[in-house]
Amino acid sequence: MDVKASKIKEVLISEQEINQRIKQLGEQLTKEYANKDLVLVGILKGCVPFMTDLSREIKTELIIDYMIAKSYHGGFESNNQVNIIKDLDTNIEGKHVLLVEDIIDTGQTIKKVIQILQSRNPETLKIVTLLDKKAGRKVSIEADYVGFNIPHKFVVGYGLDLEEKLRNVPFIGVYSNEEE
Ligand code: IMP
Ligand code: MG
Repeated sequence: MDVKASKIKEVLISEQEINQRIKQLGEQLTKEYANKDLVLVGILKGCVPFMTDLSREIKTELIIDYMIAKSYHGGFESNNQVNIIKDLDTNIEGKHVLLVEDIIDTGQTIKKVIQILQSRNPETLKIVTLLDKKAGRKVSIEADYVGFNIPHKFVVGYGLDLEEKLRNVPFIGVYSNEEE
């Protein structure tokens, strides 16, 4: 086993729990966005499994688009620098935009992205995040839809990485950097 994978100490959220919760969110979002011009905006790369699964549970017409915003430099804590490396292809003016995030920790990434998207005059702009680490928040921002509230621990899997690895782990696990 990979040395990184062997350091996943606990399954925090199982595949089954993730699937169930995404189905519930999908039902809610289907009602909310029925007959509206919906654009799902994902922030690469962590959102990919969540975007893929959630978008198929939203049973209405929609557009999927992605941005790349970098706020993380391979370590355990976010820093406050956020750069947009890839922008949207879609014109979101007058559209209903739903930002799809893997996790909100300090909130700095999403806050910056929200400011940029808001300036393009979407009809509505909301946030859905799979995971919310409320205890990590450094700026005031709340998601409109939250999959799971989680403790202030470093998690990996289902899109979330440590130094670009472990995104393919199918569950959400707690990563331990303690020596044993
Ligand atoms: P924020 O700007 O601090 O809210 O962090 C946003 C980004 O940091 C997320 O999109 C993740 O890429 C990364 N991140 C925050 N917490 C974790 C974690 O526990 N595991 C893996 N990545 C994380
Ligand atoms: Mg990351």
